[in-house]
Amino acid sequence: MSDHILVERTEAVQVIRLNRPDKKNAITRAMYDAMAKALREGEADDAVRVHVFLGSPGAFSSGNDLQDFLAIAMGGDHGDDVWDFLIALATATKPVVSGVDGLAIGIGTTIHLHCDMTFATPGSLFRTPFTDLALVPEAASSLLAPRIMGHQRAFALLGMGEGFTAEQALDAGLIWQIVERDHLEDEVMAAAGALEKKPPKALQLAKKLMKGDQEQVLARLREEGELFLQQLKSDEAREAFTAFMARKK
Ligand code: COA
Repeated sequence: MSDHILVERTEAVQVIRLNRPDKKNAITRAMYDAMAKALREGEADDAVRVHVFLGSPGAFSSGNDLQDFLAIAMGGDHGDDVWDFLIALATATKPVVSGVDGLAIGIGTTIHLHCDMTFATPGSLFRTPFTDLALVPEAASSLLAPRIMGHQRAFALLGMGEGFTAEQALDAGLIWQIVERDHLEDEVMAAAGALEKKPPKALQLAKKLMKGDQEQVLARLREEGELFLQQLKSDEAREAFTAFMARKK
């Protein structure tokens, strides 16, 4: 694969960086695969104590690559890449810290529902246009978002496709802190560095207790996944993806 996902180690912190800035870090299947692999390897390696997700200046991610969605909508194989990534993320036992600057669309937003501490810059935008694309919420967001922010706010985000500013995301409990752009990565790494020094077993147990019933999350992931795939292949979704592609011309 290319360098669209960069995996770096700093002491006991593993940083997974989305690095496809020309496409606003739209996530391809190969990128999901690389992220799933990095998460699994980080989980298996005792030397790694914290996972970190970072994007590029101006774009954490514009969500799933719409060209990939279109290929599936046109009858292509959907593979296991996205599923493997979601499972690895949802079942991560070590703390996950993330940093957002700018766009956080689709999975660029829902990924943070699984993170333990998310920092975002003031100009960040969290948005999930699932229904506009004739899709349904993914990444267990239909379970986790209402739990975190209440039904009405979650509906505005996931059903209505309202964009949340960093302030609104903070107010909704989607993120932990707003930090200035120049300090974003330092703050993320400082939090990860502090977590790295804590007794790892106690931290993992604390996370497990707070995350609650894992089976419920996995069951929701499966339920959403089936509906998502069904909708991906619908005429209305095909039209939405084609319209986005045509928009470029
Ligand atoms: N999949 C594939 N390509 C994408 C993409 C995506 N999700 N998001 C952006 N890109 C591409 C654009 O096609 C464009 O490519 P090009 O330069 O070859 O034409 C490039 O990234 C830059 O995007 P652009 O639209 O020009 O930037 P913008 O700042 O005007 O808008 C977004 C950024 C993210 C608001 C807009 O690109 C967008 O709405 N993307 C789709 C988001 C989405 O629906 N994601 C799926 C959620 S489930």
